[in-house]
Amino acid sequence: MPAADPELVAAARAVRENAHAPYSRFKVGAALRAASGRVYVGCNVENVAYPEGTCAEAGAIAAMVAAGDTRLIAVAVIADSPAPVPPCGGCRQKLAEFGAGEVPVTLATTDGGLTQTTIAQLLPGQFSAAHMDRA
Ligand code: THU
Repeated sequence: MPAADPELVAAARAVRENAHAPYSRFKVGAALRAASGRVYVGCNVENVAYPEGTCAEAGAIAAMVAAGDTRLIAVAVIADSPAPVPPCGGCRQKLAEFGAGEVPVTLATTDGGLTQTTIAQLLPGQFSAAHMDRA
């Protein structure tokens, strides 16, 4: 398992400060490194209509795609939690859309906790385009 990418963790930590999380009070930051080398960041953006909120990972992916990058090679997510917070189910599928199974994912806490995993470990048995081959 590759070591955590310190630049990504720092970028996720910084963007987390901008999270709009007045309802959960749980701020999350995410950073992605694209195949181009560029780093993209996102934070959670909640809404008074609760289901309309978006996750930090989704924001970072949207920024990457909007900038013209299409593949991610490393991910970091950070929150102020007792243990490193894993991406929600929907975000696991979103990460798998743009990153290979072996892509390293660093889960961090604001007080220095780190867990290293991969997209494949986060989403075993993932739904993929191959499942639609008879369509
Ligand atoms: N959240 C994220 O942004 N990413 C995660 O990986 C876990 C959860 C957000 C969604 C919501 O704004 C808040 O954390 C509480 O669920």
